[in-house]
Amino acid sequence: MMTNNTGDVLNLQGVTRRFGSFTAVDDITMSIKAGERRAILGSNGAGKTTLFNLVTGDLALSEGSIQLEGVESSKIATHKRIKAGLRRTYQHALLFEGLSVRDTLFLSVAGIRNRWRSILPIRKTDELQAEVD
Ligand SMILES: Nc1ncnc2c1ncn2[C@@H]1O[C@H](COP(=O)(O)OP(=O)(O)OP(=O)(O)O)[C@@H](O)[C@H]1O
Ligand SMILES: [Mg+2]
Repeated sequence: MMTNNTGDVLNLQGVTRRFGSFTAVDDITMSIKAGERRAILGSNGAGKTTLFNLVTGDLALSEGSIQLEGVESSKIATHKRIKAGLRRTYQHALLFEGLSVRDTLFLSVAGIRNRWRSILPIRKTDELQAEVD
């Protein structure tokens, strides 16, 4: 992702999320520079996944603000955050029962999308197989 003029790609200011009267994420302020690595640590139920869901836009903020590359995140739809370079992995990976490792990788390779994919010709099976290899 690109940086804003302070070199930050991500700024969280007073980020808070409530579920009813329960506060799952409470007043988180942090910034992350390009290339910087951070770890979010916390016990079960501490609010880590909720925090990620707020950054991606899967969940709305109760209070606070998030800036991506200096742009207020509430102005950026989730799919646009992804196009700008934001990525995540999920806590629970689900596999199709009965598929081989090769078939699982094939599905993953075949499912890769990018900006032009919808107007490019459908990729041939042997081309996808080569990528799986
Ligand atoms: N949609 C929801 N509705 C109500 N409560 C929720 C919801 N999502 C999460 N919570 C609650 O918010 C708290 C934080 O949950 P979260 O899943 O973010 O924790 P976590 O740090 O990711 O935990 P773990 O280490 O178990 O993955 C928990 O008490 C959880 O029950
Ligand atoms: Mg979690």
